[in-house]
Amino acid sequence: MNTDTIFSRLIVTRSEPAAQGIQLFEFRHPEGAALPPATPGAHIKVKTPSGHTRQYSLCNAPDETDRYVIAVKREAQGRGGSMSMVDQLKVGDTVEVGGVENLFELDERARSFILVAGGIGITPVLAMARTLLAEGERKFKLYYLTRDPESTAFLDEIKNSDLKSHVVIHHDRGDPSNSYDLWPALEKPGTLTGQHVYCCGPRGLMDAVRDMTGHWPSSTVHFESFGGDTKIHADDQAFTVRLAKSGMDLEIPVGRSILEVAREHGIHAASSCESGTCGTCKTALLEGEADHRDMVLLDEEKSSHIMICVSRAKAGRLVIDL
Ligand code: FES
Repeated sequence: MNTDTIFSRLIVTRSEPAAQGIQLFEFRHPEGAALPPATPGAHIKVKTPSGHTRQYSLCNAPDETDRYVIAVKREAQGRGGSMSMVDQLKVGDTVEVGGVENLFELDERARSFILVAGGIGITPVLAMARTLLAEGERKFKLYYLTRDPESTAFLDEIKNSDLKSHVVIHHDRGDPSNSYDLWPALEKPGTLTGQHVYCCGPRGLMDAVRDMTGHWPSSTVHFESFGGDTKIHADDQAFTVRLAKSGMDLEIPVGRSILEVAREHGIHAASSCESGTCGTCKTALLEGEADHRDMVLLDEEKSSHIMICVSRAKAGRLVIDL
């Protein structure tokens, strides 16, 4: 579903650091009206002060309809959306928020869960853990993997709540050789026990979990990552994209996506994650060579398709079916 047009204006009622480089925001309706309900793993879209649209997982308990809570990691190498959120959005400001979506839903058929969160990937996973804890019926274990305690959001809450006995927290101190070994947890597929795996985090963690769960039924392993490559690369350059349906040529500057620029020109394009992970913005690539930065295209699709929310041109001009 494309929620571009479903924006409501909410008020920032709380803003505080959740950890080093991570800011927590609470949004409420200006008249105190109930907000559309969410389910664990859901996200909302937020129009950032810089004018970008960004997707953030809700990290409060999904049955709270009086508020939305998100945590934003300030990405200094990003395209500016998260920096503007952390640096500019203040308590009392109005913020435009899109409808609730969930591409990372807890499976009703699952009997138990292995939850894996890396860094800011804790946000949807924490909502899941809170729900499962409150439900009290299905077992779960949360592996929360971060660099160090200072950069670990919600650390105190986890340590000082009933979640504690369900959570393994590991800090690798930035040393890959000190990564947590998830293999003992993932070695036996939960086929017979109805166990499902949910993983949200950076690309390296997602790849590792994907590798370690290759022998699990694919329907029992779920990923959500905002870890498509949305960073600006040092050698990024502006390029031209021709929209085949209208013949329009768009100039895509460094730091902007094809999707963003197309929208500015009134072109409708479906999107959801806007970080190269959901597949919604998949568009046929008719000419040119893409620099693929998404996490969803199969190798055999890369010469014929492009994810316009993150990917760029390798060189020269692209022609896409938009
Ligand atoms: Fe999700 Fe582009 S909008 S991959």
